[in-house]
Amino acid sequence: MLTVRAPATSANLGSGYDVFGIALSGPADVLRVEKAPRTTLSVTGAGSQYIPEDPAQNTVGAVVDALDAPARIRIDKGIRPASGLGSSAASAAAAALALNELYDRGYSREELVSIAAKGEAVVAGEAHDDNVAPALLGGFTVATPDGVTHVPADLQLVVCLPDIVVSTSDARAVVPDGVRLDEMVETVGNAATLTAGMERDDPYLVGRGMRESVVTPSRAKLIDGYGHVHDRALEAGATGVTISGAGPAVLAVCPEGFKRRVAAAMVEGFDDRGVEARAFQTTVGEGARLL
Ligand code: HSE
Repeated sequence: MLTVRAPATSANLGSGYDVFGIALSGPADVLRVEKAPRTTLSVTGAGSQYIPEDPAQNTVGAVVDALDAPARIRIDKGIRPASGLGSSAASAAAAALALNELYDRGYSREELVSIAAKGEAVVAGEAHDDNVAPALLGGFTVATPDGVTHVPADLQLVVCLPDIVVSTSDARAVVPDGVRLDEMVETVGNAATLTAGMERDDPYLVGRGMRESVVTPSRAKLIDGYGHVHDRALEAGATGVTISGAGPAVLAVCPEGFKRRVAAAMVEGFDDRGVEARAFQTTVGEGARLL
């Protein structure tokens, strides 16, 4: 039997819609696999009642097929589905790493990214590498159709998860079809600033580079209290705040020593709007690993 831990991830980071992602040091899913004549799946933990145990409908089923690796699979969810924290990507990444090892398939982690993305497509409807790439590689990742670029990064983060459910398909439906030239210029500038900030582990550059005015404002309307929580986090010292993935989780980048007060401000901010929330004080973390 093999056990793998795969981390939560935060995609987009504002200016990198469908491109940027980071692995978080927590929360995480834990997956156990053992060889079996046919695939069976059981799911426990956060939000497990909403996750299908039929492999054909679950994110891990497509990974099993792609690797031709039937197994008894048990997933302990630390990451609630529909959170914006890469819940399905974590399970897909964990399955890809575990089954590749169990059946000695010999794929590299980079090759496993596109295999895990097939699993993601089962739940998201379309394949996005921006969550599975950091879930497998760790650090900060830039996922484009031409490949994934990986940068180790060291940043202090808070992720605040309100008790709201936003499906990825709903969050994608509100994204405008096009952008104006001035919006494109702003986004390119911010994305480049963020990338330089990741290279330098600079929370101020990363925070500035997370600003984005096309996708994020459209999606903010789906998250009760987002604007207030955003402002509270900045007042408490965060250098940048944005929606994590498709939401509803909210990601804040913090200078050293500010996580506790930013986390408290974000939870209070949601509470001011009558929404329960919990905050994770975390960092940029490593990718999936065998335990
Ligand atoms: N980039 C995706 C989105 C993340 O924001 O819709 C979910 O796969």
